[in-house]
Amino acid sequence: MGNIITHKIKKLAFGTDHTATKIRGKVKNYLQSSGYEIEDFGFNGDSSCDYPDFALKVSKAILTKRADKGILICGTGIGMSIAANKIKNVIAATCWDENTAKLAAQHNAADIICLGSRTTALDDICHRIEIFLRTQFEERHSQRIKKIKEIEKQY
Ligand code: RB5
Repeated sequence: MGNIITHKIKKLAFGTDHTATKIRGKVKNYLQSSGYEIEDFGFNGDSSCDYPDFALKVSKAILTKRADKGILICGTGIGMSIAANKIKNVIAATCWDENTAKLAAQHNAADIICLGSRTTALDDICHRIEIFLRTQFEERHSQRIKKIKEIEKQY
């Protein structure tokens, strides 16, 4: 299913596109100071880049269990989420506020939170990530996640 985590979340896969160049270091510092280990998959350059490249890298880290959860930031969080959801068995969610950050973990078993550097203030980005990481999946939603996986297998 989305990788349902039963143990404490520790390892994070982190990826951004060029829109998040100015904030990416601050988000990482915030998470590291909260005790998380971060594997940074880029983008670290000055030019522009293509967000699907980083969505793929972070999604692979989830699939191989190198990371417990993933964080993807592009301009809106939408492109990253579309790209990451193309990878079988990965669930990514764009989260617009604290509530959707919580529900993405609790109801949707999301592996990856996607956020927008152009739509969301730095403090809100950090806060939403924290809520997402601290919220556990509720088993009562398992049947629905299984159905999503069935759809993925069939189409
Ligand atoms: C890049 O200009 C922008 O399209 C990208 O960051 C993202 O917002 C796509 O969804």
